[in-house]
Amino acid sequence: MNVAVVGLGRVGSVAAACLAEAGHSVLGIDIAPDRVKSLQKGKSGFYEPGLDSLLQETLSSGALSVKQLGKVDRLDSEITMVAVGTPSLASGGSDLSSVKSALNWIANKASGQTLLVMKCTLPPGMGQVLAQQYRLSYVANPEFLREGQAVNDWRKPDRIVIGGDRRQDIELTRRLYNSIEAPFVITDIVTAEMIKYAANAFLATKVSFINEIANVCNLVGADIEDVVAGVALDPRIGSSFLRAGLGYGGSCFPKDIRALEFVSTLNGYSCDLLRAVISVNNRQRLLPVQVLQRELGSLNGREVAILGLAFKPGTDDIREAPAVDIIRLLVEGGARVRVYDPQALPGGSQALPTGTTIAKSTNEAISSAEALVLCTEWEEFSQLDWEKVRHTMRPPYLVIDGRNTLPEEILTDLGFRYIGIGRKSHRHQEGVA
Ligand code: UDX
Repeated sequence: MNVAVVGLGRVGSVAAACLAEAGHSVLGIDIAPDRVKSLQKGKSGFYEPGLDSLLQETLSSGALSVKQLGKVDRLDSEITMVAVGTPSLASGGSDLSSVKSALNWIANKASGQTLLVMKCTLPPGMGQVLAQQYRLSYVANPEFLREGQAVNDWRKPDRIVIGGDRRQDIELTRRLYNSIEAPFVITDIVTAEMIKYAANAFLATKVSFINEIANVCNLVGADIEDVVAGVALDPRIGSSFLRAGLGYGGSCFPKDIRALEFVSTLNGYSCDLLRAVISVNNRQRLLPVQVLQRELGSLNGREVAILGLAFKPGTDDIREAPAVDIIRLLVEGGARVRVYDPQALPGGSQALPTGTTIAKSTNEAISSAEALVLCTEWEEFSQLDWEKVRHTMRPPYLVIDGRNTLPEEILTDLGFRYIGIGRKSHRHQEGVA
């Protein structure tokens, strides 16, 4: 089919490349000239494994072409997919200005009856309003892509959700995914929007739940890793999304949970559970700063290494990443901070306070550091030569493992002061199997 994709960011560029790979003829459109130029060379401009090679492949086969919005005179695609950003407003609501200008542009440029396929996450009910306002045939088709695994998630989704009011719109949208083996959930527009929010809200709730349990483990001397092992064997619970740590960040969970809470309040319902999920998550990232203040006495003048800046491994995205807040608080407290991240730096350095030192390697970050905080569980941090690290750092050799991924027993035996999230030292537990 002839498909246009408007908005070529982290979702839109994956959608355009994967739809082209699936055999559709895709016109990718973006408002930013620099982004368009980069994409025309097959460069997405951010770290997303497999995306750039797929862009190059589909551009050279001619299945994909990319144009700057201002250069498109007429839109004659059967389907126009919208994947522009919907960032949070201060109120918690969603900023729909980009969506509205995209729909306005489409309504004016579309030569025939293009079907608008909404990929953006819109507050429940908003899709209907926009469809009427811009008099467009409209379906909601939310994405469930994880950053760092987006291409794979597009090719092998757990489900494809389509919300529409007319059978022909739903059938046309189904054809976008002809090459994909996955169950379809066919519903109406507002329900499709709600599925997206409910999915992210539930996943975020699992994260805040396990962090709450980890915080109690810390106080009663239990070990969160063993608690999860014992709980996850119940098939009704399972183990996914039960890794305690510094909480969730990124461009989706924080924004979507706030938006859902906001929309619910607007509709007269108070989402007490969601508010608790948000408040647990906001506090979780402060733990390393509290531990450092407790263990070092004062932060002033202390040398602290931060390993990882991205909100999670596999991406260079630092939006709402715990490390950004942690670094800000440490620098405010007078600490001398060096940070290293294999992908998110130096790109992400503009979000960091002046005085933060950007290290080019783990070794550079930890040399002569008194304390080390692991914020992002990049694989390379789990493979460190801890004996060498011990000789590179300074007393009190404090290691705060924000993602519970470091070998606690090895570090303790080497004389590090290891502190995890809800972890218990197994060092003196004789006879433990
Ligand atoms: C998420 C959803 O998974 C995806 O379906 C949706 O389309 C977009 O939002 P993403 O934000 O890329 O994807 O990250 P994800 O891998 O889901 O992790 C979200 C956050 O939760 C990360 O900050 C991660 O560090 C944190 N997390 C995840 C935990 O703290 N513990 C866990 O066990 C799992």
